[in-house]
Amino acid sequence: MSLVVHRARLVTCDPDLGQGPLGVIEPGALVAERTKIVWVGPESELARLGPDAIEVDAGGRAVLPGLVDCHTHLLFAGDRSDEFAARMRGQPYRTGGIRTTVAATRAASDEQLKSLARSRLQRFLAHGVTTVEVKSGYGLDLEQELRLLRLMAELSDAVTVVPTLLGAHVLPDEYHDCPDAYVELVAEHMVPAARGLAEFCDAWCEHGAFTPVQCRRVLRAGLGCGLLPKLHAEQLSRGGGARLAAEVGAVSADHLEHVTPEDAHALAAAGTVAVLMPGASMLTGAPFAPARMLIEHGVRVALSTDCNPGTSFSENLPLQVALGCALLRLTPEEAIAAVTREAAAALRRGQRCGRLRPGLDCDAVVLETKNEVDLAYHYGVNLVATVIKGGEVR
Ligand code: NIG
Ligand code: FE
Repeated sequence: MSLVVHRARLVTCDPDLGQGPLGVIEPGALVAERTKIVWVGPESELARLGPDAIEVDAGGRAVLPGLVDCHTHLLFAGDRSDEFAARMRGQPYRTGGIRTTVAATRAASDEQLKSLARSRLQRFLAHGVTTVEVKSGYGLDLEQELRLLRLMAELSDAVTVVPTLLGAHVLPDEYHDCPDAYVELVAEHMVPAARGLAEFCDAWCEHGAFTPVQCRRVLRAGLGCGLLPKLHAEQLSRGGGARLAAEVGAVSADHLEHVTPEDAHALAAAGTVAVLMPGASMLTGAPFAPARMLIEHGVRVALSTDCNPGTSFSENLPLQVALGCALLRLTPEEAIAAVTREAAAALRRGQRCGRLRPGLDCDAVVLETKNEVDLAYHYGVNLVATVIKGGEVR
């Protein structure tokens, strides 16, 4: 089945294909065969298609790659609105709140968890997001973490779910007195069992979570089992996570509110993508990550919702584009690249998604507006008109 999207302001997010840093072709068109893009180019060069091709007339509006959220914790049960309200009254964010979600998640049935996650994925899709990374980390024992990874495999549908093992999220209550025994469980048992279920292995390097030595053990075990490393680093305090991410060649280092220029230098040299989540900083009262400093040091920057019940409960990735501009001082072009091309790089999926380029999956978003900058300028509202996933209009 072929699909053609035409009369578009085609924002390919690939500077090799069009004008400016986002590779704009205007008026432009795109052709897909089944799930893949086979051609993009100027409208004037669009070849005539067979009578059964599905036609999407963009009417001059902006068409972008399907957005990519490269960092979420959306598979959870329970509610922490009380904790949120207390924080808004002045209480600080504490890592211990995660245990509330762990208890609720463990108690929920598979069907309950899937239904909660599906409604969140549906909201992501409605906001133009066609690929979402999902972390475990609210099970925190062997059986429960594997259950979460297995459920993720059942969730990939209209939105592609990319699974990550986050067994080293925080210390579960049962291991209160023996953190190293828990780290051993993660490195020696969870990680090998997650082979084939997870693509990435993540850990939280933080006071109140795990030390760099403990995280190194987990990430190295992941590498031994083919799980690529990611790391929650320098979020609430500076703790050596960014250096560790660079040392192990992590695909991404995430949060980075407290990252330093020396850390940035190491991340750039390692080719580690910085995943920044201004919503999480905003709602924990943390400083904002120094995005400009990272970019000046040559670090690639992605943006994400961090969708989770503790620090940032939102499926609105375009809102992060606006916050990335307003709070992290990204340019609109940088912020849009950060939820497309750069977010795909943070999932090692640059050859699948994040750009409108022949050979990649046909995941695209038609906006209601002719100008992609409206994603930041006309903020907080949903400007998505049509979502195309795998060559199918959703
Ligand atoms: O990314 N930093 C670690 N994990 C989450 C918070 C999870 C929670 O509070 O439930 C985050 O902000
Ligand atoms: Fe997170």
